[in-house]
Order: sequence, then C-alpha cells, then structure tokens
Amino acid sequence: MSICYSEEFKSFYLNTPNTSYVFHINEGGFLVHDYYGSTLPVCDLREYAARLARGPKSADGTTVPCGTPMEYSCNGTGDFRVSALQIRNAAGNASTDIRYVSHKIYAGKPAIPGQPSTYGTEEEVSTLEILTQDAVTGAKVTLFYSAFENYDAITRRAVVENGSDYDMDLERVYSLCCEIPFGNWQICHLYGEWGRERTFERSNLIHGITSVESTQGASSHQHNPFVAIVDEYTTEDVGDAYGFNLVYSGNFSVQTEQIVDGDLRLIMGINPNDFGWKLEPGESFATPEAVSVYSAEGLGGMSRTFHKLYRNNLCRGPWKTAKRPLLINNWEGTYFDFDEEKIFNIAKQAGELGVEMLVLDDGWFGARNSDKAGLGDWFVNEEKLKGGLGKLSERIHGLGMKFGLWFEPEMVNPDSDLYRAHPDWCLQVDGRQLCTSRNQYVLDMTRRDVRDYLFNCMDNILKNARIEYIKWDFNRYLSEAGSLLLAPERQKEIFHRYVLGLYALLDRLVTAYPDILLEGCASGGGRFDPAMLYYSPQYWTSDDTDAIERLDIQYGTSMCYPTSTVSSHVSACPNHQTGRTTPLQTRADVALAGSFGYELDVTKMSDEDKEAVKGQIAEYHKYYDLIHFGELFRVIPPNREECAWVYVSEDKSEALLTFVCVRNRPRVRRRTVHFRGLDPNKLYADQDGTVRAGSVWMKAGVNKAQVMKDYTTFKVHLTEVK
Ligand code: GLA
Repeated sequence: MSICYSEEFKSFYLNTPNTSYVFHINEGGFLVHDYYGSTLPVCDLREYAARLARGPKSADGTTVPCGTPMEYSCNGTGDFRVSALQIRNAAGNASTDIRYVSHKIYAGKPAIPGQPSTYGTEEEVSTLEILTQDAVTGAKVTLFYSAFENYDAITRRAVVENGSDYDMDLERVYSLCCEIPFGNWQICHLYGEWGRERTFERSNLIHGITSVESTQGASSHQHNPFVAIVDEYTTEDVGDAYGFNLVYSGNFSVQTEQIVDGDLRLIMGINPNDFGWKLEPGESFATPEAVSVYSAEGLGGMSRTFHKLYRNNLCRGPWKTAKRPLLINNWEGTYFDFDEEKIFNIAKQAGELGVEMLVLDDGWFGARNSDKAGLGDWFVNEEKLKGGLGKLSERIHGLGMKFGLWFEPEMVNPDSDLYRAHPDWCLQVDGRQLCTSRNQYVLDMTRRDVRDYLFNCMDNILKNARIEYIKWDFNRYLSEAGSLLLAPERQKEIFHRYVLGLYALLDRLVTAYPDILLEGCASGGGRFDPAMLYYSPQYWTSDDTDAIERLDIQYGTSMCYPTSTVSSHVSACPNHQTGRTTPLQTRADVALAGSFGYELDVTKMSDEDKEAVKGQIAEYHKYYDLIHFGELFRVIPPNREECAWVYVSEDKSEALLTFVCVRNRPRVRRRTVHFRGLDPNKLYADQDGTVRAGSVWMKAGVNKAQVMKDYTTFKVHLTEVK
C-alpha cells in the first residue's frame, strides 16, 4: 500500500514509485502540508512547515498563522491566501475552517457518482479519505487522495456535506490545494483559439495571483485545465516539473499565489465565478477530480506519466486497447454538399486504398444544408440519403468497412422543428435576447426531458443502422445560461449542472452502446480535457489540419494528453484553414503522431497520390503499436525552423524519429538530430541497416540532410539487434 499514517508524527505519507507527498495534523487539528517531490523516507517533517509560517501563532496551534502551507485552505480565518473552500452559512458570513476528525486508508479508488475520474484496481491504487469538520458552519468535508502504485500520479478531490440544520451556500469548492516549496517557479499552460488550440506558453510567475480559467461553460479553446509548475532550469529532460490537470469539462479555475518568500500555493477546481451551490441539510456536493504528477525528469517525464495514466486508467472500454479503425471523414472533402452516391464513392475509393471506416460528418439530418438549420432534428434527411442511413451503412459495410456518424447533441438551430416545438428547452434568461453563435442555441442539458429526447433520437438511429463510431461535436459556448426549471436561488448552479447533465447523457450512451467508439470534438479541440477522454478515447484535436500548424497544436496537446487520444487527419492542399501547401508525405508524417485518418475527397486525388496513401497506410499499421503505446520524447519543440519527436517502445526495442524541416536556413542550427529514451547499451539498426549502440544514436545523433526543402520530413526507424 502506497499510503501510510504515522501516529508518532501524526503524519500522512503518500508514495508513488518516485515521489512522496507528506502532510500532518497539527495541534489544532489543521491539516498542514509538509512536502511534495522526489521520494523521501518516512520521517518527521513537521518543523519544515512551521518554518514557513509568519505572523502571530497561537501557542497551541489552534489558529493558522499566515503563510502556513495548508492542505485545503479555507476562507476568512487568518490564512489570507487563495482559498480552496468558502462556505456562506445561514448567518450570512463566509468564514470557513476545517479540522481533522478521522481518516481511513484502503486499497482501490472509489468512483465519483455521476462524474468521470481515473480508476484502478486494488493492486494499482490506494486511497486516503480524511473527514474534517467546520465546527461553526457544520460542514463535513472529506478530502480524498489516491496514490498510484505504478505512476507518479496522485489524485485529489473533496466532498462537502451539510451537517447542520440550515441551508448553506458553497461559494468556492476547489478540488485541490497544493503547496510548492520555495523556488524560482515558472508556469506552463496551454492557451489558444479556434484552429490554434493548446499553444504551449511558459512564463515566470509573478508575486501575487496568477490564474488560468474558463468561464465559457466548457474547458474551452482559450485555456486548457492543465498547468505545470517548473523550476526556471527545468528542461524537457531534467528538473522539477509539477503537472496539474482537472478532470472536468466545464468552467475551471487554476490559481497560483506566490508571496514574497517565493513559496507557492496552487488551487485547481470549478471556477467560483458565476458558481454557487445550495446545500440543504444532509445534502452533499462532490468536486471533480484533479490529477497531479511530479517528475524530476523535466516536462518530458511529467508528460509520459500523464500519458500512461490516461491511456490505462482514464480511457475506458474496448477501444482503450483495441486497434482503432483508420477512418476517412468527409467534412473537408464535401462540407454540406453530398448525397448517398458521393459518400459511397468516397468510401469505396478510400476502402480500396486500405481505409477501414467512413465517417459521415455534419449534414445528414433534418433540413441541414448549411449551418443555419436543422440542429436538433436527428432524423435522416432522405433527400440527400435516399433509403436512409441503414441502406448507406449496409453498402459501406458491403465494402468491408465500418461506418461512423456525426452528432452535435447539445445544440439546436432556431430554424429547426425541435426549437419550434420546444423553445423552452434552450438555456435562457428571462427577458434577455438569446445570442446565437454559429447560428445555434444551447440546449438545457440540466433537464431530464431534453436528455431523454436526445438519447432516444440517438438510440433510434443506432438501432436502425450499423454504426460503429460517433463523433460528438459541440460548436459553441454557453451564454444566457439560465434554466426555466431551476429555482432562482439555484440558477448559480447552472454551469455545473450543465456539465453533470452532459456526463449523464454520455454515460447513458456508452452504457447502452459499450462497443461504440466515441470521438469528442468541439469546433476542433475546444473541449479536449480528461473528462471527455473518459467517455471518448480519441478527440478531434483541431479544425486546423495544416501540417505545420499542427506541429504547435500537437506539441502543446502532448504536454498532458497521450498520442492515442489525439485525432489527426491528412487533408487536401492548399490547406482549407491556412492556404498552405505541404507535401502529402509531410501531412501523413505529422498526422501519424496521433489517431490517424484522412479528411478529404479521395475521389479527387491523383493516381500518384493514391499510391502514396497506400504507402502511408502501410506505415500506419507498421508503427501503430509503437506510436499508440510507446513513450513520447519531444526532441525539438516546434520553432521557426524545425521540429522533431521520437517514440520509443516500452521495452526499448524499437524507436521512430520524425524530423520536420519548417524553414531551411543554412547553418543556423546543429546538423544532427538526436534520439532520446533508447537503452544506451542496446544495439539498434536503422531502416538502411546501419547498426549503432543506443548511446551513439542519442549522443552522436543522425545527420539531417544538408539541404531539405521547406515543409519536408524524414523518419528514422530503429529496431533492436540482438
Ligand atoms: C466542427 C468540427 C468539424 C466539423 C464541423 C461540422 O467545426 O470541428 O470537424 O465536424 O463542426 O459542422
């Protein structure tokens, strides 16, 4: 068991293979943080925390001196830094203070009812539950910690129960509070826009509060619920890296506060902005889960831990391990302009090249001939698809291929039968005009009748046609977020209730259809977060399919999310988003670093390109296991001139290096590119038969071609020579 409690030191020790997390119960019953980092032996670390405290300290430890590192900081009782918990009680004040009551430690990890989370067997993970209580408000707060046996990952969350006889209002209830000791810390996070999701940014932390947030009702294109705290000297390979990721698809908040000494507090959880939760006596509220990973092996080590954890202990269902079908999606190939024959011909010609599944994107239902109408009317448009989806699906299966379908369940166009029949089913605020975005409104996912309608529509489609895959899209954010069914005092709960409603519908769908492969999507990658990966083991990464833009997008995404989740397609050139023309092989080499597919009209390709596609598909099969289940080493982060990465199989018997020349410039950079992650003592042969020790491939590297054209790539594949 990786968690223990020392009665002598009144301390908890959470150990993963290479990390320790330590805190204690002080004289006043406060949970005080001592240490998080590389493994330490069980010892008394309580003095360490005491050194950090400033200001007046009561002799018996019954009040918290300012600066004390707290396990779960509370508002308004002398802590003075960002607080994880703020409860407004029946008397109208919001001072909150929790003290230890009892704890239990056990093997395994309980699920969070109605919410996604990482999971594990009793051999893989153990859990510490600490019950605390606020004597004044009557709140009972249980803090959950789970430590993984095989990964340097610890998960955190809290449950607040109203143990009083009066209503109470939760105003802030974060999932995690983490104290990081003195250092020159920097923050890394992933910002973006449509078409530029998860751009990596690393900056010095100011003294004061820094926050990364979403208020858009979804985790969003603009900010991802991931941050890493790194030392100023941390690199890809060495140095402290603390990664934090929230398993949540709604409004999130990460705040760091650094005071003058340089010690840092980080809190992560549901964004308190426009949030509140009324708890009646006996009711409880569960936060989402936050995952933290520490690595002394820099950002690369941190990312590889997230990758393994999410591949094995977050993604679920048969598609977690089963080989995903290589798909072609018609969106960029046809947009809304298709009929049955056009789709069938794309499938047929793609199938002849080795593609295994046709995904029919937007436009197959209702009066959906553009993005102006039809959303919500999940009934096949028989003018386009004569004979319906059943017939089309049978014809595609007749080609030996699978069939997938696009939905955007959470939305409705004002110009739709659904909206005309049920205008009350939208999110709305009395007296305010609803704003459209992409000509659509958001359905009120907090309502059971709305969710039932959506499930029944999807169920009906899935029952009447053979469909192996669903692309679940979400193309706008939430505004005028009110529900006609919620009481005024509960309207502040709407953003979180929306997310819970979404989870409920997703859960119902994957429970009814466990074999369906779900791919998440939100105008590209606008809701690419671990909560969605729990339901959909792959996610459409960005609508920007340009190979050069993808270098940045996939680099940032790889900070936290495994390659197997990163859906990436080869599209036509000039690229529809950037107008750039890149070689077909480059597009394939970049898309190979993900869940690979095509997104173009294959019937318009030249014979030469079709031959090239056959070669790419052969490579996809050859490298599938290495790329999907191997370890990623980011060798050269994307820059104005180049980018390179390496996949190494877990047993280190095979590796693949991909190098991209973005802009060739004479003599500006080193002429070699270097493998990482190999066994230095093993011998490896490349595809031309050159045999060298792993150390040589890593230290001497391979020569880059002296003159490479812009936007071209090369790959070096190594296999162990026994
Ligand atoms: C979003 C998705 C695209 C496509 C369109 C269809 O933009 O990101 O992949 O499905 O919707 O309308």
